[in-house]
Amino acid sequence: MDGAQRLAWLEDYAAGEHEAGKLAAPETLADGIRVEGLSFAYPGSEKLVLDGIDLHFEPGSVVAIVGENGAGKSTLVKLLAKLYAPSKGRILVGGQDLRDLDSASWRGKLSGAFQDFFKFEFKTQHAVGLGDLAKMDDRPAVERAINEAGADDLLARLPRGLDTQLGAAWPEGVELSFGQWQKLAVARGFMRPTPLLLILDEPTAALDAETESGLFERYAQAARKRRDGRITILISHRFSTVRIADKIVVLDGSRLVETGSHAELMAKEGRYADLYRIQAKGYR
Ligand SMILES: Nc1ncnc2c1ncn2[C@@H]1O[C@H](COP(=O)(O)OP(=O)(O)OP(=O)(O)O)[C@@H](O)[C@H]1O
Ligand SMILES: [Mg+2]
Repeated sequence: MDGAQRLAWLEDYAAGEHEAGKLAAPETLADGIRVEGLSFAYPGSEKLVLDGIDLHFEPGSVVAIVGENGAGKSTLVKLLAKLYAPSKGRILVGGQDLRDLDSASWRGKLSGAFQDFFKFEFKTQHAVGLGDLAKMDDRPAVERAINEAGADDLLARLPRGLDTQLGAAWPEGVELSFGQWQKLAVARGFMRPTPLLLILDEPTAALDAETESGLFERYAQAARKRRDGRITILISHRFSTVRIADKIVVLDGSRLVETGSHAELMAKEGRYADLYRIQAKGYR
C-alpha cells in the first residue's frame, strides 16, 4: 500500500509537471535571470528556507553565492533549475516566468553539478556521458568533458580508462573516493558545451583551494567570451575563489543580506567583510 501510494503521488506529480509549463526555453538570456520577492518552504514544512529574495543575475555574469551552512544557497539554485516551484514570488528567465517554461526544455539549457550529486555505477564513459544523453557514446565528447573538469589524472588512473566499471559491487568494478566521484560529477556537468546557466554548487569541495580557484577562473573566462548571456553561478565557502566573481550574493538565515563585487563588499564593512577576514586569518 505504501509503495502504491508513493507511485500514485508520483504519477499525479508528473502529470501536473507536464501540464504546468509549455513554452520553450529562450535561446539567449538577454535580460539575464530576475528573482522577484522569492520565498520558499520545502513541501510539508512551514519554515521559510528563502525569505523575500530580490536578485538580478546579469547576462554574461559570474555570480558567487556565499553564506553559512543552511543559509539556503543550494535551495536557491535548485529553484533556478526548476526542481522546485517558488512558494511566493517568481523567477524570470529572459523575461519569461520560469513557471511557464517547459521543464525539460529549460533543463536542456542547464549544466553543472549539484552538491548532492549521484554516484552512477556505470562504465566511466556512461557515468560522465549521460550529462548529455545524445552524446552518451561519443568518446571524444566525454574525454573533452573530463579534461574540462580537471579530471584527466583520474581517467589515467582507471585500469580500463573509459571502459572501467564503477562501483565495487560490480564484477571488476572500481570504487572511487568521494573526491573522485565528485570530479566525475563535474565532468558530467560539462557534457553540454553551451548551457545558458552553469551551476557549480561546491563542486570542488574535495580539491585544494588553489586548484579550485584555478578551475573557477577558467569557467569564468569561458563564460565572459560568450554572446548568449550565459550565467555562471558558483557556490563556495572559499573566499579566495569567490572574490573572482562579478557579483557576490551573501545569504544569511534565509535572507539576502548583501550583494556586490568583492571590492564593494569589503568597502561596505558588512557581513561579507567579516566572513572574509575570519577566513583570511585562518589561512595565515
Ligand atoms: N529536501 C529538503 N527538505 C526539507 N528541508 C530541506 C531540504 N533540503 C534542505 N532543507 C533545509 O533548507 C535549509 C537550507 O538548506 P540548503 O541546502 O539550501 O543550505 P546551504 O546554504 O546550501 O548549506 P550548505 O552550505 O551546508 O550546503 C536548511 O535548513 C535545510 O535543513
Ligand atoms: Mg548547499
